[in-house]
This record gives sequence, C-alpha cells and structure tokens, in this order.
Amino acid sequence: MRKEAMKVQLKIIQHLANCITFTTTGRKNCGTRPLMDEKKTESRIIGGHDAMVGSWPWQVSLQHYTIGLGYFHLCGGSLITNNTVLTAAHCVKKNRNAAFWRAVIAVHHLHAHNYYTRKRRVSTITVHSDYDSESYENDIALFTLIKHVKYNNYIQPICIPENDTIDLYPCYIAGWGNTKEKGVGKLILQEAQVDVFPLRLCNRYDSYAGRLTENMVCAGSLTGRVDSCQGDSGGPLMCYFRNVSRYYLIGITSFGLGCGRPRYPGIYVRTVNYKNWIDAHLIAKTTDVSIRWVPIYWIVAWTVFYIL
Ligand code: ARG
Repeated sequence: MRKEAMKVQLKIIQHLANCITFTTTGRKNCGTRPLMDEKKTESRIIGGHDAMVGSWPWQVSLQHYTIGLGYFHLCGGSLITNNTVLTAAHCVKKNRNAAFWRAVIAVHHLHAHNYYTRKRRVSTITVHSDYDSESYENDIALFTLIKHVKYNNYIQPICIPENDTIDLYPCYIAGWGNTKEKGVGKLILQEAQVDVFPLRLCNRYDSYAGRLTENMVCAGSLTGRVDSCQGDSGGPLMCYFRNVSRYYLIGITSFGLGCGRPRYPGIYVRTVNYKNWIDAHLIAKTTDVSIRWVPIYWIVAWTVFYIL
C-alpha cells in the first residue's frame, strides 16, 4: 500500500515539475497565426497598408510613461516567450528603467484596446552589453514582463531561427511608425512585404558603403518604396517558412538612412546570430498560476501518502 502511495506521490511531483517547465518556456508552439489562412496570404509603414486584426499575434507596442502625458508608443517588439519581448537596444537609450515601460500585446489600434488586449508592466530590461550606438552593432534588448500572458488567437510567440537560411520568402515588416521620413506614425498597425538583399549589395559604395556587418540584415525595396521608419524600431522582420508552416523572426528593426530612400533599404538585427545571447538572458519564471498550485499539490501528495 505504501509503495502505491509513493508512486502516486512521485507522479504528482513529476506532473508538477512538467507544469513548471512548460509554463516557463512556453515556446513549444511558435510562429503560427490562428486567425489567418496562410494559403490565402497575399503579398502586399512606408508603402504598407493596414494589417488585419490577429495578423501578427507576436507584435508588441512598447510604451514609455511620461508624467502629464501618460504612456506613449516608442517602439515595436516581438513576443518570443510568454513573458519575454525582444526589441532594439536603441529603444531604451533614453530610459533603461523598467518601471517607466509597459508592453501592450494584441493591440491593433493604439488608442482603442480590445477585450483581448493585454497590458503588462516590465520587470527587467536586458540590453546587449556590446551595443554600440554609433554603428548600431548588437542593437538588441530583452524586456521581461512582470506577469506572463496566455496564448490565444490574438497572442502567440514568434520562432527564433536556429540556423542561417538564404531563401527568405515571403518576408514582412509591421509597426505603428512613420509612413513618411518626416511624417507621423499610424494608430492602426501597418504591414508591408519586403525583399531581403545580400549584404554585399547594401554595402556597396553608393549604398551603406561597408558600414553593415554580418550581424545585420538588409531588407526593403531597392527602389525605396517599402521600408520601416521612426517608431517601427524593435519590431519584427519576419519570414514564413512553408516547409514548417511557421513564421521566424529574421530581424529586429534597427536603422536606416532616412526612410524609404532608393538604394538605402532598412537595416535589421540578424537574430540568428543572437540565439545564444537570447537563450542565456531569458529570465525563466514559474508562472503565477503554477506557483499558486504548489501548496495544493503538496497537500494532495501528503494526504495520499498518509491515508493510503
Ligand atoms: N531607428 C528607427 C526607430 O527608432 C527605425 C529606423 C528604421 N529605418 C529605416 N529606414 N528602415 O524607430
């Protein structure tokens, strides 16, 4: 009898451990869009158009608090686990204090939140220690949310690439940033399809002239019609991989010479090169739900042990 009880107790402990590891990473399923029909996605910021509700369930608006003004959208971001948002390091150059920031998830119109929109305060901001504000090298940062979010039709994490791929198609950018170089942002999330160019093309003397490194991706349009702009930074450059039916975060919106200028496409952080940095800086947190269940598990386990 005691043996049986021990077994039950072991099982319960095992289940508890599973629950905790599962909720901690929350990365089992990534890069899918429950509300979109991928077969029907047509090709089509600067040169963009309104996204559909639920189009980019990992897109985050990172907002900064100013006394008297309230929260203000400053940058985009991508949800990569249920408590982590990946963004650009230059987004926090004004203020690295997590207390001033919030992440708004599942938002379409910046001023009209839906019942499924989630606002989360930030517990930690981790900026790459080798970020260089002159060259934009290592322009990457992680926001850890105070409380995790639950995945649903409107909230999903995007996949982080494990290895380099050359065939990137189709790829998209999204954000609430300016629609003209000297313009203003949009309240409704914009999206655009972009081409990814070989680095050496963007590094030519009549383009970025050797300023781009292997840690960057060059994407947009060579004629300058489609691009990201101020306010889109930190947001995703994402590509769909038909073989696995998932979206991968290929880049993080980082910089550009102006916006939408011919021969000067947008420059993005090459996320694949930061896979290890990201993994090493994820702040694994057991979720509130599983923590709440711990005492109950123990009570059940002990009762089973002593009564049987
Ligand atoms: N640095 C800009 C920002 O803070 C984004 C620039 C992207 N520029 C471009 N031409 N693609 O929002």
